Amino acid sequence: MTKPFLSVEQLTQSFPDGKGGTMTVFEDATFGVEKGEFVCILGHSGCGKSTIMNILAGLAEPTSGVVKMDGYEVSGPSLDRGVVFQNYSLLPWLSALRNVMFGVKARHPNWSKTKVAEHSEAYLAMVGLDGDTIHRKPSQLSGGMRQRVSIARAFANHPKLLLLDEPFGALDALTRGTIQEELLKIWGETKQTVFMITHDIDEAILLADRILLMTNGPLARVAESVEITIPRPRNRTEIVEHPNYYAIRNHLVQFLGRRSKELSGRRSNGTPQVPETVRITMEETAEPEGDGDKSPRLHAVQN
Ligand SMILES: Nc1ncnc2c1ncn2[C@@H]1O[C@H](COP(=O)(O)OP(=O)(O)O)[C@@H](O)[C@H]1O
Ligand SMILES: [Mg+2]
Repeated sequence: MTKPFLSVEQLTQSFPDGKGGTMTVFEDATFGVEKGEFVCILGHSGCGKSTIMNILAGLAEPTSGVVKMDGYEVSGPSLDRGVVFQNYSLLPWLSALRNVMFGVKARHPNWSKTKVAEHSEAYLAMVGLDGDTIHRKPSQLSGGMRQRVSIARAFANHPKLLLLDEPFGALDALTRGTIQEELLKIWGETKQTVFMITHDIDEAILLADRILLMTNGPLARVAESVEITIPRPRNRTEIVEHPNYYAIRNHLVQFLGRRSKELSGRRSNGTPQVPETVRITMEETAEPEGDGDKSPRLHAVQN
């Protein structure tokens, strides 16, 4: 089997537990992400989502295991991996435009200043920022605008992998909805690979090709990979009309409500912990002696 674009192999992370022992966040986590895929990871607070993301970003070293991107082991941060955090992390002394230009310049040291500015402005326009706004400093922008700048900055660098850690967590519902749709639009245009953490089920269904479900920590596992069997383009108002929507949503709610706890706390004993693939569809299956049952079909395929 060919390796996926992003390959997470037997990743284990332990931390000192503060009582002289160690606390294992997750053990032997093993999964892949294909090029151009949009993958969301859902799990309760403290299960290790940010820890995984920091390792993918090269900002933290795992206790053991490796992450490979395009066949190369990830070590240290790189412009190939763009990161957007919940708290924006913009440079406060630079304008919105200059915040975006900063990364673009680093990425393309040979570009003229005009070219860097034009490129950066184009990405700010994609997230709905133009005119005077782009010359304001972060402190003069609303939370939603700051988050738009962070997203423009990440996308403008054309990273091979975009890592988003609850990027909309601090935004009000309305702004969040608009930015989600802008994110989908840019992703549709650039076809970058996106790995995003969220704790919002509806956001995950709207955005993702696949949702990875994590059990609670410690000894958390990426237990399932749920395929979002809803065609694109998607938007918030129409997606809920799709026959698969509530079946998928119920599955995720059940997992977070019950199984995330039941399945946690198991040791891996050195075996790769690969998530089970789950495909949910309400489409009727042609059974030879069908009983006319139109309840959701839940296909669990072990990979
Ligand atoms: N640097 C660290 N030192 C010790 N414990 C940590 C460190 N980073 C995270 N943890 C612990 O690891 C667990 C997972 O944390 P985190 O990845 O932030 O969870 P999530 O993002 O899913 O909410 C938590 O119990 C957290 O307290
Ligand atoms: Mg986190």
